[in-house]
Amino acid sequence: MRSFIEGIPKAELHLHLEGTLEPDLKFQLAERNAVEMPYASEAEMRAAYDFDDLPSFLAMYYEGMSVLLTEDDFFDLAYTYFQKASSQNVVYAEVFFDPQAHTSRGIGFETVISGIHRAQLEAEATLGIRSQLIMCFLRDMSAESAMETLEAADGYREWIIGVGLDSDERDNPPIKFVDVFAAARQRGYRLTMHCDVDQANSTDHIWQCLNDIGVDRIDHGVNALDDPELVTEIRTRGLGLTVCPISNSYVTDGLKAAEIRRMLELELTVCVNSDDPAYFPGYMNENLQAVQEAADLSQPQMTQLVGNAFAASWLPDDEKTDYRNQVTAYAETHVR
Ligand code: ADE
Ligand code: ZN
Repeated sequence: MRSFIEGIPKAELHLHLEGTLEPDLKFQLAERNAVEMPYASEAEMRAAYDFDDLPSFLAMYYEGMSVLLTEDDFFDLAYTYFQKASSQNVVYAEVFFDPQAHTSRGIGFETVISGIHRAQLEAEATLGIRSQLIMCFLRDMSAESAMETLEAADGYREWIIGVGLDSDERDNPPIKFVDVFAAARQRGYRLTMHCDVDQANSTDHIWQCLNDIGVDRIDHGVNALDDPELVTEIRTRGLGLTVCPISNSYVTDGLKAAEIRRMLELELTVCVNSDDPAYFPGYMNENLQAVQEAADLSQPQMTQLVGNAFAASWLPDDEKTDYRNQVTAYAETHVR
């Protein structure tokens, strides 16, 4: 099963580029930019990653971004991720970036997006990995700041496929951003939002995503299982759920592998992703492997999980079909 997982063509839909900043690249960029690090070594930095919930993770995540200053830094960050993903047979990725985490430090929106966009082009040309970009708003900042960010992106509309919402969910419900997401929808963006696992008012927030925001996808969303009507509504609308098992094991109480299995049984379009792999160690293959082992998933179930990511993607239909055929063909020629 391990080699089946490694070889199957995969899509990743829930990946924060800033969450791929591994300690070695962080140190390299710190040196290049003469940024002083609060740690003497990579080992010391890793040892400080002792978060056990979303806020404690986010504190480390934002602190790490201090080394990202120039367009080349954002290029290197993104290209390094694409190299790693491609080495695991990820053929398509929809990746998040957090512009406000950089503009709030005085880095220009253009600097951030130009570096990432150049890495996308280079990665497609040299590695053959295709990608699209999702701009996330930080939900612990104001709706006005999110709206300003949406407007800043107007000059780059064709470089961004959708918008999302991340950061600390406590007291920051989806409804806070109802006007921003309506304005994003008007501009033609696809919409997604984090519904992090085991947060306060989790199911209420998922209902808001459906009824007030009209999302096209849900990031995490495992707590939908707590409400059978919610499950039915998500299935009826065909919404994808991008679940991140190793991430969940760090900030909640486990991989949620049984829940992923249950979602498959309920015919929800659930897929597996790596979220912030530099902080929650494990890229796509490690996440899929962890779930397979913990929930004893069969080869057809693994194929379904991987196929779901393409189904839930924001690719044009013909490309979606092409990739899904590749997954099916792989599975048929690798029957154990
Ligand atoms: N920002 C980066 N990773 C995140 C996550 N898993 N949840 C919320 N915000 C995030
Ligand atoms: Zn996330």
